[in-house]
Amino acid sequence: MSDFKKLGVIGHPIKQSLSPEIHNYWIAKYGIAGQYDAIDIHPDQLEDHIKFLIEEQDYRGFNVTIPHKEAVLDLCSSIDDAVPNIGSVNTLVVQENGGILGKNTDAFGFIENIKSHEPSFDFAAGPALVLGAGGAARAVIYALKNEGILDIYICNRTVEKAEGLAEFFDVNVAPWEARSSELSNVNLLVNTTSLGMTGQPSLDIDLSALPSSALVNDIVYKPLVTDLLRQAQSQGLKAVTGIGMLLHQARPAFEAWFGVLPDVAEDLENRISEKAA
Ligand code: ATR
Repeated sequence: MSDFKKLGVIGHPIKQSLSPEIHNYWIAKYGIAGQYDAIDIHPDQLEDHIKFLIEEQDYRGFNVTIPHKEAVLDLCSSIDDAVPNIGSVNTLVVQENGGILGKNTDAFGFIENIKSHEPSFDFAAGPALVLGAGGAARAVIYALKNEGILDIYICNRTVEKAEGLAEFFDVNVAPWEARSSELSNVNLLVNTTSLGMTGQPSLDIDLSALPSSALVNDIVYKPLVTDLLRQAQSQGLKAVTGIGMLLHQARPAFEAWFGVLPDVAEDLENRISEKAA
């Protein structure tokens, strides 16, 4: 193995991924000998293609995106604590012994995004309400539980999915219909649904009952400032966009491959925000 390190993001399709822009920025910034590529892998070829990339092409690891985030679990010889909680893998690290470590860094990305933008926000000051019950919600709830927040409500259109997650994480369910009316003591509101994303239906919610100390975060980053965040801003609430979660989730992956925990400088955040728009 040479000192020059090859990494990449695998998905299908893959052209839309912003990960090459992020990791190649850091490779240049930290003077690392390496490259990071976007690699399209058809689901039928997943195992063979990954083996080829590692064994024949000397790749040392990958980020994993749709539709492979669950399927790559079968190829992992070890996993970190986040993986069974979030139920998917977003990072693969080829180890010295040839084994593959599977990690999920989404929960880290979610928390670090909020902490970096609102360092004085007190997560423990009150309940958190999470809209949605898909994979992104799992990462958010896992992250909040790791922060020591016990008072968490899941609010989802399909109540059975909210109930399933609530049982798994030992948290509560709030009715989807009550998403505007039951906000009076909510400290943190997070949208993990696809509502409000460009091309998707809008998120119909009225934030006027939220306390003035509340923080609103949207996982959606296209558009960068969603209607939800605009409404929060117009009420003078703390509003954190979703692009930082994408940037911060990339940091532990970069560290696992290159031994440097990179930072999210303002120019990187601006550059990726522009590309995402
Ligand atoms: P991800 O892995 O990104 O979380 P997902 O698993 O497809 O994506 O989850 C999408 C979330 O957006 C779900 O909570 C979904 O609600 P349902 O469980 O009821 O499907 C939510 N969602 C998508 N479209 C919605 C809509 N039109 N109204 C309400 N919720 C919606």
